[in-house]
Amino acid sequence: MGALPAVLPRGSVVAVIGSGAMGSGIAQVAATAGHEVLLFDTRPDAADKAVAEIGKAYAKLVEKGRMDALDADQARERLKRIGTLQEAAGASLVVEAIVENLDAKRALFTELEGIVTDSCILATNTSSISVTAIAATLRRPERLVGMHFFNPVPLMALVEVISGIATEKAVADTVYATAEAWGKNPVHAKSTPGFIVNRVARPYYAEALRLLLEQAAEPATIDAVLRDCGGFRMGPFELMDLIGHDVNFSVTNSVYNAYFGDPRFTPSVLQQELVNAGFLGRKTGRGFYRYGEGVDKPAVQEEAPQARPEHVAIIGGATAPIEALAARLSKAGFELPRQEAFDGTPGFLCQGAAVYLTDGRTATERAAANWHPNTVIYDLLLDPAGATRIALARADQCSDAAYHAVVGMFQAAGFAVTRLDDVPGMAVMRTVAMLANEAADAVNQGVCSARAVDIAMQKGVNYPRGPLAWADSVGLEHIVAVLANLATAYGEDRYRVSPLLRRKIAANPHGARFHA
Ligand code: NAI
Repeated sequence: MGALPAVLPRGSVVAVIGSGAMGSGIAQVAATAGHEVLLFDTRPDAADKAVAEIGKAYAKLVEKGRMDALDADQARERLKRIGTLQEAAGASLVVEAIVENLDAKRALFTELEGIVTDSCILATNTSSISVTAIAATLRRPERLVGMHFFNPVPLMALVEVISGIATEKAVADTVYATAEAWGKNPVHAKSTPGFIVNRVARPYYAEALRLLLEQAAEPATIDAVLRDCGGFRMGPFELMDLIGHDVNFSVTNSVYNAYFGDPRFTPSVLQQELVNAGFLGRKTGRGFYRYGEGVDKPAVQEEAPQARPEHVAIIGGATAPIEALAARLSKAGFELPRQEAFDGTPGFLCQGAAVYLTDGRTATERAAANWHPNTVIYDLLLDPAGATRIALARADQCSDAAYHAVVGMFQAAGFAVTRLDDVPGMAVMRTVAMLANEAADAVNQGVCSARAVDIAMQKGVNYPRGPLAWADSVGLEHIVAVLANLATAYGEDRYRVSPLLRRKIAANPHGARFHA
C-alpha cells in the first residue's frame, strides 16, 4: 500500500455499502465526524430511507440538545445516496455492511477494486466471516481490514479493528485512528472466529444455559443473580430473548464449528429446543419468558425473613473479597472476631455454620471435605458494599437452623437472599471465571491485548468490568481454583484452564495480575 495518512482527514470521502441497520449507523457516525459520506444499497429505496432516517436522528439529537443545529444541517448535507458503485471512485475508505455472506462480500470487494484508487482502504463490518477469507480473492488483500461496529452504531463505542493474515499494519492503524477520531473506542484484533466480543461473551450464555439445565434455579432467578450480584445490565436469559434464540444459537454454532468443535463452545440442547419450538424470544412473544399484554414477570426466588444471628466471626486470613463483605457485615453491627479456619480457607462462621465464597466446589463437597456439615457458600459479588442481593447454596447435610442463621446474617446486612441449588461454581463466579478464562486464552493466542479484551467487553456488550480486571480483583489463584474445580466436577475439557492464567500465577504467586 502507498503512504497512508495516520488518520483519514475530515472532509475525505467515506463510502458505505449496504444501508441496513449497520450501514446507516456507520454512515451517520462518519458524516457527524466531518466526512463526505456516500451511501449505496442494491435496493435504492433502502438507501433513500436510510438517508431520511439519519436526518430524523440528527433532528432528534438537536431537539435533545445533544447536537448543534448547524452541525446537524452540515452533517446531513455531507450525506448522499449514490445510485451506482462507480460513484464511490473518490472514496478514501469504503465500509461494507451488506448481507453476511462470503461470496457476496468477495464479489463486492472485487468490483470495488476496479473502481477505487490505489490508496483507498477497504473495510468489512462482518461479524462472523474470516477477514482473511474475504480478502483472499482480491488483487491487493493487504488493504482490506475488518471494521466491526456494534448495534446500534451511534450509541455503541466499540469498534473491533480486525487484521486478516494479509492485512497491512498501516491499514489497521489508520482505521483504528479514524475510528478514534469518530469518537469510538477501537481495539485491534486478529481475524479469528468470533473476533473478541463474540468469542469471549459465549460463556455468558453458555454457563447460564448449563445452570438451567442442571436446575440451579429458574431463568428469572438466575437473571436476577447476574444483575443484582454480578452487576450485569441484563441477565443472560432476558438478553438471549432480546437477541433472539435463532440469532444467538446460530452465533454459538458458528463459533463452535469454526473452532472445530472445541467443547468450550458447545451449544445447548435447551436453546436448540427453543429454536425447534419457534420460541425465539421477544420477537415471537415467547422465549424463556412470555411477552405481551397482561403477562406478569415470573417471581425471583427469595428466602423468607430469618432472625438475625448473634455470633458471627471471620475465619482464616484476610483476602480482598472477604474483607469487603466483612466491612458490610460490620456496618450492620456484627462484631466479627477472628478465628482459625478449618481448612485454611477464609470465610465466616455464623452460629456454627461455615460460610465461604464459592471456589467452584459445591457446598456439599466442601462440607464433606471439612467434616463440617453446616456449610453454606455464597456467590461472587461485583460490589459487596452496594449489592442488593446475595446468592447462597447450602450443603445437602446442612441443618435448617444453621442455614437460616446464615440467611438472617445476610438479611441483617441489607441483602435480599436468593438460594441456588448446590451446583459447582454457582452463577456469577462460574460465569466470570469462564469469561476471564476465554479472555486469557484470546490474549495467550495473540488475538488481542489484555487491555483490548477488557475494553471490548465493556464497550461492546456493556459488561460492568473487563473480565481480566475482574479476575485480578477476585485473585487469579481463586479464578484458577474455580476453573480447576469445575473441570474436576464435570470432567469436561470445556473447563480447562488457560495456560496464561497458570503462567501468571507461577511467575508471581501472590500478586499475579493482568493489569498493573
Ligand atoms: P441488514 O439486512 O439490515 O442490511 C443489509 C443491507 O445490505 C440491505 O439493505 C441490503 O439491501 C443491502 N445489500 C445486500 N447485498 C448488497 C450488495 N451486494 N450491495 C449493496 N447492498 C447490498 O443487515 P445489517 O444488520 O445491517 O448487517 C450488515 C452487516 O453487518 C452484516 O455483515 C452483519 O453480519 C454485520 N453486523 C451486523 C450487526 C447487527 O447487530 N445487525 C452487528 C455487527 C455487524
